[in-house]
Amino acid sequence: MTEQLDTLLNEARRFPPSPEFAARAQATAATYAEARADRLRFWADRAAELEWSTPWHTVLEWDPPHAKWFTGGTLNASVNCLDRHARGAKRNQAALLWEGEPGDRRVITYWELFREVGRAANALRALGVQRGDRVAIYLPMIPEAAIAMLACARIGAIHSVVFGGFSPESLSDRINDSKVKVLITADAGYRRGQVIPLKRNSDKALETTPSIEHVVVVQRRPGSSGDEAFAEMREGRDHWWHRLMQDAPLSCEPETMDAEDVLFILYTSGTTGKPKGIVHTTGGYLTGVAATTRMVFDLKDEDVFWCTADIGWVTGHSYLVYGPLANGATCMMYEGAPDWPEKDRFWDICERHGVTILYTAPTAIRAFMKWGDEYPAKHDLSRLRLLGSVGEPINPEAWMWYREHIGGNRCPIVDTWWQTETGAIVISPLPGITSTKPGSATKALPGHSADLLDSLGKRIDVGGGLLALTKPFPSMLRTIWGDDARYVETYFSKWPGRPDLYFPGDGAKRDSDGYFWILGRVDDVLNVAGHRIGTMEVESALVEHPAVAEAAVVGKSHELKGQAIAAFVTLRDKSKQSPALRDELKEFVAKKIGALARPDDILFSADLPKTRSGKIMRRLLRDIAEGRALGDVTTLADPNVVASLRDQYEDKEG
Ligand code: PRX
Repeated sequence: MTEQLDTLLNEARRFPPSPEFAARAQATAATYAEARADRLRFWADRAAELEWSTPWHTVLEWDPPHAKWFTGGTLNASVNCLDRHARGAKRNQAALLWEGEPGDRRVITYWELFREVGRAANALRALGVQRGDRVAIYLPMIPEAAIAMLACARIGAIHSVVFGGFSPESLSDRINDSKVKVLITADAGYRRGQVIPLKRNSDKALETTPSIEHVVVVQRRPGSSGDEAFAEMREGRDHWWHRLMQDAPLSCEPETMDAEDVLFILYTSGTTGKPKGIVHTTGGYLTGVAATTRMVFDLKDEDVFWCTADIGWVTGHSYLVYGPLANGATCMMYEGAPDWPEKDRFWDICERHGVTILYTAPTAIRAFMKWGDEYPAKHDLSRLRLLGSVGEPINPEAWMWYREHIGGNRCPIVDTWWQTETGAIVISPLPGITSTKPGSATKALPGHSADLLDSLGKRIDVGGGLLALTKPFPSMLRTIWGDDARYVETYFSKWPGRPDLYFPGDGAKRDSDGYFWILGRVDDVLNVAGHRIGTMEVESALVEHPAVAEAAVVGKSHELKGQAIAAFVTLRDKSKQSPALRDELKEFVAKKIGALARPDDILFSADLPKTRSGKIMRRLLRDIAEGRALGDVTTLADPNVVASLRDQYEDKEG
């Protein structure tokens, strides 16, 4: 980390916004001044930009660490994302420009989206879904994913979207944790030319999910009706989406929701074996995502906004669905891989659809860099006017490449720091105001307040420390589904006696201009290709394999993915160790959790380095995985263990 800090400290390049961009920007210096002068007023003004059925009586009730925003107010998220626009001048404007991986396309206007959502909402009601019920969504990146989310919002059902890359077991865990009543899935999805059998995965998951009453299946494979290979429909439980939609009336009275009613649950990895259900509410979340979409992405009516994130992650929720649609924007949505059929697919999409704002992840940018400058160079990207980055620290080299080869040295870059828990962007440049520095997420947005503290809670002016969010904000999580104690413990117990300070789990550096440089997680959570994975989750998966006695998982740096997973495994029977078993264990984890959790390295070891009290010393394992000099080994019970592990690792690498 020290080396990383030094490199960042030496980053001297500055990119102020161009006068032309600044002159037309949505957010101005006055936006900061307004928020500084009266933070609650600032958020109340942002909330007032939404459509409410009843006005709130109190902006914030703060009983640390529990917050309620806009209490007394009622609204409906789908009305804000659809009806407002479908009724007015945006009626015939495209809400979604969709492209499937095989090349099929759909353009859905606000009016059409409004109708589809109304139908889907009625179909769900007809299946018995009521306000407060949970609905799981396990779909590919097709318009029905957004339609399903908004249909839930319309009838006050709580959606829980599960990324299509997760395994049946991960899906069933998430369904069971919040006792989901209805699952919406598809026969299949496409990824890099492969057909992903989502319905088959769902059927497997549904073997252990007693709460599920109905399954709705979107037909993704053209002409596959009755194609039993991909969707075996179970009588009474399973329904084709298109049949339900045919019969459903299009007008659907929206449920009037309290500002604090739950809009959705989204599971994310933490430091234990089981993911936690992050709870977001209606009024605060929508206020946060609508305001940040406009401020950070400088959204204008003529824009085509493309957030490349999957709907299964928070970025897809906030900046593909709720934020842009609440603003009446036109969103690009793409189903598949960036290198299918060729490595220029993204640039081809940008050119053909006239994308003006692109929001993607550093992992993708590093892959584009590696593939070569010729792919973007083949396309006219001159419509692009703003670029965004999210999900992991962006290295200055990737930032500069993005600026030059995608942004034509003309587009500002917003490096946005936030989390599933914060719901919306917290630290980011404002493109018409902030002078950016490659690799820095810069400063907290108006209405937010971030600080850098040491482990005792002392403020660090300049240097490295722990990131803290010091004031509540509307889009923050309210709790963890079914486990409020874990909410308090995980996020608000870092600094004793300060239940008002939110700890996101990230380390950061602050420079002499007050800019933040996010360094990454300081807990046992990895960030692999922008996806959060708990080391404990992978460990729990590994020890379920009959051959494994014990496992310890750490992250190691990876050129493209940011971090990769390295697992140290002790076998029950040492003589079983073999390259075949190594592959089998990698596959076993991929099957149990999902391909994103497949370890890059598995190292067999007779023993794991432990303290005398039996705690695994991950710090040393990280040193070994990174090939670094070992840190302090004096507290080890058996110092020989690390030496032997390191020798093995070096052998393996060689
Ligand atoms: O470590 C930070 C990293 O991603 C974590 C949040 O992951 P998740 O909840 O999956 O949400 C990702 C999309 C918002 C953070 O704790 N992270 C996110 N954005 C950045 C980042 N690290 C550095 N720079 C960022 N811009």
